[in-house]
Amino acid sequence: MKGNKEETGARNQEPEEKRQPSILTSDSCLLTSGVNPFLVVRDLWKAYPDATNGRTEVLRGICLSVAAGELVAVMGASGTGKSTLLHVLGGLEAADSGSVRVGDFEVSRAAHAEVAHFRNETVGFVFQSHRLLLDLSAIENVALPLLIARRKWPEALGRAEELLRCVGLGACATRKASQLSGGEQQRIAVARALVTRPRLVLADEPTGNLDEQTADEVGALLASLAREQSGAAVVIATHNERLARLCDRVLRLHDGRLQAKES
Ligand SMILES: Nc1ncnc2c1ncn2[C@@H]1O[C@H](COP(=O)(O)OP(=O)(O)OP(=O)(O)O)[C@@H](O)[C@H]1O
Ligand SMILES: [Mg+2]
Repeated sequence: MKGNKEETGARNQEPEEKRQPSILTSDSCLLTSGVNPFLVVRDLWKAYPDATNGRTEVLRGICLSVAAGELVAVMGASGTGKSTLLHVLGGLEAADSGSVRVGDFEVSRAAHAEVAHFRNETVGFVFQSHRLLLDLSAIENVALPLLIARRKWPEALGRAEELLRCVGLGACATRKASQLSGGEQQRIAVARALVTRPRLVLADEPTGNLDEQTADEVGALLASLAREQSGAAVVIATHNERLARLCDRVLRLHDGRLQAKES
């Protein structure tokens, strides 16, 4: 999917001193100490075209590692690149350069079809904008990743029902997604992301539309998935301090780089 775009105009427009690759020390790479990381991100760069035919560097040498069973919160002001980062980690968008490895899979070097397979098998994504299929029912939306993975209907529906109950929407299973509130849709999006028991969960503002109590419940569900059920690595982009406090580490995205957040 991704050619080597290391020498793009965007990188070349940067002053030389700004284009130095990150020094891969445990500190600047935010490496997890003493464990074998499941997600390893090295020197990730990503720019978008801007309105004046230039390029805006959004990610400027991101380094990160996350262990299985670990929850990491990524905070930062609106527009700093949190969604962009999650999209690149999940193979939804290509980076300009740098590498993303998940388990033994090199996301950043794989062909398009391999990345699609990897996403279905390994990644649960909660999109900031939910991206539900509004004409389908709640349970059909949640079951969809299992059906794409060729699991049988009864198994998929049983598991989807279980997840809907976990997010407090057991009674809404047959209602069309379009008839549900923003917060209910968000919980369906969380259930859909977790239904396959993914080993990597990328959750983009998973509590953005929720009241405090429901947000806490969704946070607890993500935490239990990471810590108890399948030992998933979980990265959560959030503005919610309470959700961040549930996480093992809180990082801040600022000026295209990740740093440990001071409390
Ligand atoms: N497809 C795109 N084309 C051009 N610019 C984009 C694109 N997607 C994002 N951007 C820009 O990249 C920057 C980072 O956007 P991103 O959505 O990653 O921020 P964010 O940290 O998730 O913000 P928020 O907290 O508001 O969700 C923004 O300046 C945004 O305008
Ligand atoms: Mg965002």
